Amino acid sequence: MKKICVLASGAGTNLEAILKAAAAGKISGQVVLVISDREEAKALERARKRKIETLFLNPKDYKTRLDYDLALKEAINKAGADLVVLAGFMRFLSKEFVESFPNKIVNIHPSLLPAFPGVNSVAEALDYGVKVTGCTVHFVDEGMDTGPIILQEAVPVIKSDTAQTLLERIHAKEYRLYPHAIDLFCRGKLKIIGRRCEIAE
Ligand code: GRF
Repeated sequence: MKKICVLASGAGTNLEAILKAAAAGKISGQVVLVISDREEAKALERARKRKIETLFLNPKDYKTRLDYDLALKEAINKAGADLVVLAGFMRFLSKEFVESFPNKIVNIHPSLLPAFPGVNSVAEALDYGVKVTGCTVHFVDEGMDTGPIILQEAVPVIKSDTAQTLLERIHAKEYRLYPHAIDLFCRGKLKIIGRRCEIAE
């Protein structure tokens, strides 16, 4: 069983989907630690409810981004994690941090990357007028939403969509896609060749 550490800043609905899938045996791994940079993050509450270890790392306690990332790294290593899962973690991770876990950090993003990276992707996709958007699970490199793509799923945009309704449909896809990608990682099915990620049968 692979050990998974989840980093989350907000509602933690993806975390919930991951925890549910793991509890149902749909992920060949277990979440051993959930870390947040926000004390009030609902994600922490969700983890506590399921008796999973949590840690709040307050950015205010660290002078630099690097100091913060070093503390993160120490906590992840102490937990013996094989995989770091970003689930709505709202901090940009330093190159040093990313290089400490080569091809072992994954993220989910609410657009079909490389379109609409960054924080406002759903509203940006809607404003741009795309007919199809979606979500992407990818490995994390030192760029912003630029690492090798593991899985993507499309979500059609409909005429009556607001950013909220579109986000809700994207979320629904995320909750299936992310656990699946994490399971593929845990079962050793992902192979990175250059910037492509191949999935073994
Ligand atoms: C998701 O939409 C994900 O794509 C993005 O952050 C959001 C997290 O939501 N990276 P939640 O905290 O899992 O509810």
